[in-house]
Amino acid sequence: MPLWLFFPVYTVWVMRKTSISNSVRRRYNRIAFLYDFMEIPLELLRFGSWRLKLRSRIKGNRALEVGVGTGKNLAYYPGEVEITAIDFSPRMLWRARKKAMRDNVDAELLEMDAQQLAFSDDSFDTVFATFVFCSVPDPVAGLRELRRVCKPDGRLLLLEHMRPESSLAGIIFDLINPIVVRIVGANINRRTADNVRRAGWQIQLEEKLSSDVVRWIEAGPV
Ligand SMILES: C[S@@+](CC[C@H](N)C(=O)[O-])C[C@H]1O[C@@H](n2cnc3c(N)ncnc32)[C@H](O)[C@@H]1O
Repeated sequence: MPLWLFFPVYTVWVMRKTSISNSVRRRYNRIAFLYDFMEIPLELLRFGSWRLKLRSRIKGNRALEVGVGTGKNLAYYPGEVEITAIDFSPRMLWRARKKAMRDNVDAELLEMDAQQLAFSDDSFDTVFATFVFCSVPDPVAGLRELRRVCKPDGRLLLLEHMRPESSLAGIIFDLINPIVVRIVGANINRRTADNVRRAGWQIQLEEKLSSDVVRWIEAGPV
Protein backbone atom coordinates (compact mmCIF):
# COMPACT_ATOMS: atom_id res chain seq x y z
CA MET A 1 0.00 0.00 0.00
CA PRO A 2 1.43 3.45 -0.88
CA LEU A 3 2.38 5.39 2.27
CA TRP A 4 -0.01 8.28 1.52
CA LEU A 5 -2.94 5.80 1.60
CA PHE A 6 -2.01 4.49 5.05
CA PHE A 7 -3.18 7.61 6.94
CA PRO A 8 -6.76 7.83 5.61
CA VAL A 9 -7.19 4.03 5.91
CA TYR A 10 -5.89 4.12 9.51
CA THR A 11 -8.13 7.09 10.37
CA VAL A 12 -11.24 5.31 9.01
CA TRP A 13 -10.30 2.15 10.95
CA VAL A 14 -9.92 4.08 14.24
CA MET A 15 -13.20 5.97 13.65
CA ARG A 16 -15.04 2.71 12.97
CA LYS A 17 -13.67 1.07 16.14
CA THR A 18 -14.62 4.11 18.22
CA SER A 19 -18.13 4.23 16.80
CA ILE A 20 -18.72 0.49 17.52
CA SER A 21 -17.52 0.99 21.13
CA ASN A 22 -19.80 4.02 21.50
CA SER A 23 -22.82 2.13 20.27
CA VAL A 24 -22.21 -0.82 22.67
CA ARG A 25 -21.74 1.67 25.54
CA ARG A 26 -24.97 3.47 24.60
CA ARG A 27 -26.89 0.17 24.55
CA TYR A 28 -25.74 -0.70 28.08
CA ASN A 29 -26.51 2.83 29.26
CA ARG A 30 -30.00 2.40 27.82
CA ILE A 31 -30.76 -0.96 29.47
CA ALA A 32 -28.95 -0.29 32.79
CA PHE A 33 -32.16 0.50 34.71
CA LEU A 34 -33.73 -2.81 33.58
CA TYR A 35 -30.65 -5.04 33.62
CA ASP A 36 -31.00 -6.60 37.09
CA PHE A 37 -34.74 -7.07 36.66
CA MET A 38 -34.33 -8.78 33.24
CA GLU A 39 -31.86 -11.27 34.67
CA ILE A 40 -33.74 -12.28 37.85
CA PRO A 41 -34.87 -15.68 36.45
CA LEU A 42 -31.38 -16.53 35.14
CA GLU A 43 -29.74 -15.50 38.43
CA LEU A 44 -32.17 -17.64 40.42
CA LEU A 45 -31.86 -20.63 38.10
CA ARG A 46 -28.10 -20.89 37.55
CA PHE A 47 -26.03 -17.70 37.39
CA GLY A 48 -25.90 -17.21 41.17
CA SER A 49 -24.38 -20.63 41.77
CA TRP A 50 -21.84 -20.16 38.96
CA ARG A 51 -20.77 -16.75 40.31
CA LEU A 52 -20.07 -18.41 43.65
CA LYS A 53 -16.91 -19.91 42.10
CA LEU A 54 -15.33 -16.45 42.13
CA ARG A 55 -15.10 -16.43 45.91
CA SER A 56 -12.65 -19.32 46.07
CA ARG A 57 -10.83 -18.70 42.75
CA ILE A 58 -9.90 -14.99 43.09
CA LYS A 59 -6.41 -15.17 44.60
CA GLY A 60 -3.52 -12.87 45.53
CA ASN A 61 -3.30 -9.31 46.84
CA ARG A 62 -4.86 -7.41 43.92
CA ALA A 63 -7.58 -8.39 41.48
CA LEU A 64 -9.30 -6.67 38.56
CA GLU A 65 -12.89 -7.20 37.45
CA VAL A 66 -13.59 -6.11 33.88
CA GLY A 67 -17.16 -5.17 32.89
CA VAL A 68 -18.50 -5.05 36.44
CA GLY A 69 -21.91 -3.98 35.07
CA THR A 70 -24.43 -3.33 37.83
CA GLY A 71 -22.18 -5.06 40.34
CA LYS A 72 -23.68 -8.53 40.49
CA ASN A 73 -20.35 -10.06 41.48
CA LEU A 74 -19.71 -7.71 44.41
CA ALA A 75 -21.40 -10.17 46.75
CA TYR A 76 -18.87 -12.85 45.72
CA TYR A 77 -15.66 -10.84 46.22
CA PRO A 78 -13.39 -12.50 48.77
CA GLY A 79 -12.90 -9.97 51.58
CA GLU A 80 -9.13 -10.34 51.81
CA VAL A 81 -8.31 -9.31 48.20
CA GLU A 82 -8.02 -5.64 47.09
CA ILE A 83 -10.37 -5.36 44.11
CA THR A 84 -10.58 -2.79 41.33
CA ALA A 85 -13.54 -3.05 38.96
CA ILE A 86 -14.09 -1.24 35.68
CA ASP A 87 -16.87 -0.72 33.15
CA PHE A 88 -17.22 1.64 30.20
CA SER A 89 -20.95 2.25 30.72
CA PRO A 90 -21.42 5.08 33.26
CA ARG A 91 -25.01 4.05 33.99
CA MET A 92 -24.15 0.40 34.68
CA LEU A 93 -21.25 1.58 36.85
CA TRP A 94 -23.48 3.99 38.78
CA ARG A 95 -25.61 1.03 39.82
CA ALA A 96 -22.53 -0.96 40.87
CA ARG A 97 -21.35 1.99 42.99
CA LYS A 98 -24.76 2.22 44.68
CA LYS A 99 -24.69 -1.52 45.42
CA ALA A 100 -21.14 -1.32 46.80
CA MET A 101 -22.15 1.52 49.15
CA ARG A 102 -25.34 -0.24 50.23
CA ASP A 103 -23.57 -3.54 50.95
CA ASN A 104 -20.40 -1.96 52.34
CA VAL A 105 -18.14 -3.58 49.73
CA ASP A 106 -14.69 -2.04 49.70
CA ALA A 107 -13.77 -1.93 45.98
CA GLU A 108 -12.50 0.76 43.63
CA LEU A 109 -14.98 1.24 40.77
CA LEU A 110 -13.68 3.07 37.70
CA GLU A 111 -15.03 4.06 34.30
CA MET A 112 -12.62 2.54 31.78
CA ASP A 113 -12.50 0.66 28.49
CA ALA A 114 -11.24 -2.93 28.68
CA GLN A 115 -9.56 -2.44 25.31
CA GLN A 116 -7.33 0.34 26.72
CA LEU A 117 -6.69 -0.23 30.40
CA ALA A 118 -5.01 2.57 32.33
CA PHE A 119 -2.98 0.21 34.53
CA SER A 120 0.72 -0.62 34.41
CA ASP A 121 1.95 -3.99 33.16
CA ASP A 122 1.90 -6.87 35.68
CA SER A 123 -0.40 -5.10 38.18
CA PHE A 124 -2.87 -7.82 39.18
CA ASP A 125 -2.75 -11.35 40.57
CA THR A 126 -6.21 -12.24 39.24
CA VAL A 127 -8.14 -10.68 36.36
CA PHE A 128 -11.73 -11.77 35.89
CA ALA A 129 -14.95 -11.11 34.00
CA THR A 130 -18.42 -12.63 33.83
CA PHE A 131 -20.57 -12.42 30.68
CA VAL A 132 -18.46 -9.57 29.26
CA PHE A 133 -16.44 -10.78 26.28
CA CYS A 134 -19.67 -11.36 24.35
CA SER A 135 -20.02 -7.58 24.16
CA VAL A 136 -16.50 -6.09 24.22
CA PRO A 137 -16.26 -4.72 20.65
CA ASP A 138 -12.77 -6.16 20.02
CA PRO A 139 -12.58 -9.14 22.41
CA VAL A 140 -9.03 -10.19 21.47
CA ALA A 141 -7.75 -6.64 22.10
CA GLY A 142 -9.51 -6.66 25.49
CA LEU A 143 -8.12 -10.08 26.43
CA ARG A 144 -4.61 -8.92 25.39
CA GLU A 145 -4.98 -5.93 27.70
CA LEU A 146 -5.94 -8.27 30.54
CA ARG A 147 -2.82 -10.30 29.80
CA ARG A 148 -0.67 -7.16 29.88
CA VAL A 149 -1.91 -6.07 33.31
CA CYS A 150 -1.85 -9.59 34.77
CA LYS A 151 1.31 -10.70 36.59
CA PRO A 152 3.31 -13.49 34.85
CA ASP A 153 2.19 -15.95 37.55
CA GLY A 154 -1.34 -14.50 37.66
CA ARG A 155 -4.58 -15.97 36.47
CA LEU A 156 -7.54 -15.16 34.24
CA LEU A 157 -11.03 -16.28 35.31
CA LEU A 158 -13.92 -16.09 32.88
CA LEU A 159 -17.57 -17.08 33.07
CA GLU A 160 -18.89 -16.63 29.53
CA HIS A 161 -21.48 -17.83 27.10
CA MET A 162 -20.23 -18.66 23.62
CA ARG A 163 -21.04 -20.21 20.26
CA PRO A 164 -21.96 -23.92 20.57
CA GLU A 165 -19.60 -26.38 18.88
CA SER A 166 -22.30 -28.41 17.10
CA SER A 167 -22.61 -27.14 13.55
CA LEU A 168 -26.43 -26.91 13.47
CA ALA A 169 -26.72 -25.09 16.82
CA GLY A 170 -23.79 -22.86 15.79
CA ILE A 171 -25.58 -21.84 12.57
CA ILE A 172 -28.79 -21.08 14.49
CA PHE A 173 -26.83 -18.89 16.93
CA ASP A 174 -25.19 -17.12 13.95
CA LEU A 175 -28.59 -16.44 12.39
CA ILE A 176 -30.24 -14.93 15.48
CA ASN A 177 -27.12 -13.10 16.70
CA PRO A 178 -27.83 -9.77 14.91
CA ILE A 179 -31.24 -9.52 16.61
CA VAL A 180 -29.79 -10.23 20.08
CA VAL A 181 -26.95 -7.72 19.53
CA ARG A 182 -29.48 -5.06 18.57
CA ILE A 183 -31.59 -5.60 21.66
CA VAL A 184 -29.03 -6.19 24.44
CA GLY A 185 -25.61 -5.49 22.89
CA ALA A 186 -24.29 -9.03 23.49
CA ASN A 187 -23.12 -11.48 20.80
CA ILE A 188 -24.23 -15.06 21.32
CA ASN A 189 -21.87 -16.52 18.70
CA ARG A 190 -18.45 -15.45 19.93
CA ARG A 191 -15.71 -18.12 19.98
CA THR A 192 -14.43 -16.84 23.31
CA ALA A 193 -12.22 -19.83 24.18
CA ASP A 194 -10.38 -19.37 20.85
CA ASN A 195 -10.14 -15.62 21.49
CA VAL A 196 -8.55 -16.31 24.89
CA ARG A 197 -5.83 -18.40 23.19
CA ARG A 198 -5.35 -15.84 20.40
CA ALA A 199 -4.77 -13.16 23.04
CA GLY A 200 -1.79 -15.06 24.47
CA TRP A 201 -3.35 -17.05 27.31
CA GLN A 202 -2.97 -20.74 27.96
CA ILE A 203 -6.24 -22.32 29.07
CA GLN A 204 -5.70 -24.50 32.14
CA LEU A 205 -9.32 -25.34 32.87
CA GLU A 206 -12.40 -25.20 30.65
CA GLU A 207 -15.51 -26.40 32.41
CA LYS A 208 -18.76 -26.70 30.44
CA LEU A 209 -21.53 -25.51 32.76
CA SER A 210 -24.58 -25.48 30.52
CA SER A 211 -23.99 -27.79 27.53
CA ASP A 212 -21.00 -26.16 25.82
CA VAL A 213 -22.59 -22.71 25.69
CA VAL A 214 -21.78 -21.41 29.18
CA ARG A 215 -18.21 -22.14 30.25
CA TRP A 216 -15.93 -21.43 33.19
CA ILE A 217 -12.38 -20.77 31.98
CA GLU A 218 -9.16 -20.45 33.96
CA ALA A 219 -6.01 -19.43 32.09
CA GLY A 220 -2.48 -18.22 32.70
CA PRO A 221 -0.25 -15.97 30.55
CA VAL A 222 1.73 -18.00 28.00
C1 LIG B 1 -23.69 -8.48 29.96
S1 LIG B 1 -23.01 -7.23 30.99
C2 LIG B 1 -22.30 -8.20 32.29
C3 LIG B 1 -22.17 -7.43 33.57
C4 LIG B 1 -21.63 -8.22 34.76
N1 LIG B 1 -20.28 -8.67 34.54
C5 LIG B 1 -22.52 -9.40 35.08
O1 LIG B 1 -22.02 -10.53 35.19
O2 LIG B 1 -23.73 -9.18 35.28
C6 LIG B 1 -21.59 -6.71 30.07
C7 LIG B 1 -20.91 -5.50 30.71
O3 LIG B 1 -19.63 -5.33 30.05
C8 LIG B 1 -19.43 -3.96 29.84
N2 LIG B 1 -18.49 -3.79 28.73
C9 LIG B 1 -18.63 -4.19 27.45
N3 LIG B 1 -17.56 -3.84 26.72
C10 LIG B 1 -16.72 -3.19 27.56
C11 LIG B 1 -15.46 -2.58 27.40
N4 LIG B 1 -14.85 -2.54 26.21
N5 LIG B 1 -14.88 -2.01 28.48
C12 LIG B 1 -15.50 -2.02 29.69
N6 LIG B 1 -16.71 -2.57 29.90
C13 LIG B 1 -17.31 -3.16 28.86
C14 LIG B 1 -20.83 -3.40 29.54
O4 LIG B 1 -20.90 -2.01 29.74
C15 LIG B 1 -21.68 -4.19 30.53
O5 LIG B 1 -21.79 -3.54 31.76
